[in-house]
Amino acid sequence: MTGGRIYLSAPDVGTLEEQFVVSALRSGWVAPLGPDVDAFERELAERVGVAHGVALSSGSAALHLGLLAMGVGPGDVVLTSTMTFAATANAIVYTGAEPYFIDCLPDTGNIDPDLLEHTLERLTAAGERVAAIVPVDLLGKAIDYTVIEQIAARFGIPVLADAAESLGASHNGRAAGSFGRASIVSFNGNKIMTTSGGGMLLTDEHELASRVRYLATQARQPVAHYEHTDIGYNYRLSNLLAALGRAQLHRLDDMIARRRALRDQYKAFFADTQGIEVFGAQGDENDNVWLTSILVDRRASGRTSADIRAWLADADIESRPLWKPMHLQPVFAGARSAISGASERLFRTGLTLPSGSGLDDVSIDRVFDQLRKHVATA
Ligand SMILES: Cc1ncc(COP(=O)(O)O)c(C=O)c1O
Repeated sequence: MTGGRIYLSAPDVGTLEEQFVVSALRSGWVAPLGPDVDAFERELAERVGVAHGVALSSGSAALHLGLLAMGVGPGDVVLTSTMTFAATANAIVYTGAEPYFIDCLPDTGNIDPDLLEHTLERLTAAGERVAAIVPVDLLGKAIDYTVIEQIAARFGIPVLADAAESLGASHNGRAAGSFGRASIVSFNGNKIMTTSGGGMLLTDEHELASRVRYLATQARQPVAHYEHTDIGYNYRLSNLLAALGRAQLHRLDDMIARRRALRDQYKAFFADTQGIEVFGAQGDENDNVWLTSILVDRRASGRTSADIRAWLADADIESRPLWKPMHLQPVFAGARSAISGASERLFRTGLTLPSGSGLDDVSIDRVFDQLRKHVATA
């Protein structure tokens, strides 16, 4: 990718992916099942260090079925981070449960454990049924699962970890995707590795994995004719896409290394720029550095994140504000939340910059050239 538009995080695919997909196509397994689906589940579960993986059509589907398999339904409350992509909150709504949004820590954007604990104290004292906690690893930084799992255990509430953005990251030597009763990852086109679209539920629990696999295949009973005792979904991953995922998994560490090299370049660049810092840079050794964002202090830098975004857009370079918190979204206007203001500040000041592992040197130079010119305009 040299001329033309520079994207935030474009898919990074090449000849290995082509070989895997062509081989799957020639095998005749052109269906939402097959040897590549089985192998992909095995290989990713092994990589993350859990017993089971269930390959699904998206991370959203994995969230939906993970919640259903944990027994979440109408009348339940599910606590999640307000600083996330809408998919997390949508999946809670699909089950009929009510999403309750918790604010984040200012330095990581991940769920604030104190706010979470206080909210749980309040809700359980009021006799509400909190059925699950869905924390989110923002932009590839694993949350402090040690603390979150302690809080969840204190209240006896299951955790479904939204690791859609954090495959390849870790916390205390354990891989993102291995926490909670189950975790989900996403292979959407913009993620650290992609199947073009897809996701996986990861868990150590055999029964949970079986239940998700069953619900994802239209809840078909194991009999010759079509027999159904539950409402099911058509959520399995195509065998062709699983083959693409297997190739990407081979390259995951290299792709993370490329993103890290780019993150280091951004850090070096902004170290000399007053009023602009790389978000979450402190302690990012264990992140997968999926996306690099900056926080722009208007007073100290003499500009806003919107100014930088407009400048880059003129040069055909994509950048984007940090996630707009869920409690500010019109669709969730009536939802309950525990808000400190941290996520609103991140939304106001944060800007995500091109971070893809497929960016070549010419594109990267173009990005820094424009940033240099913009900084010089102050
Ligand atoms: C935090 C988060 N959760 C869930 C999802 C949903 O994943 P998918 O797009 O595969 O449905 C995404 C990404 O799209 C995400 O960023």
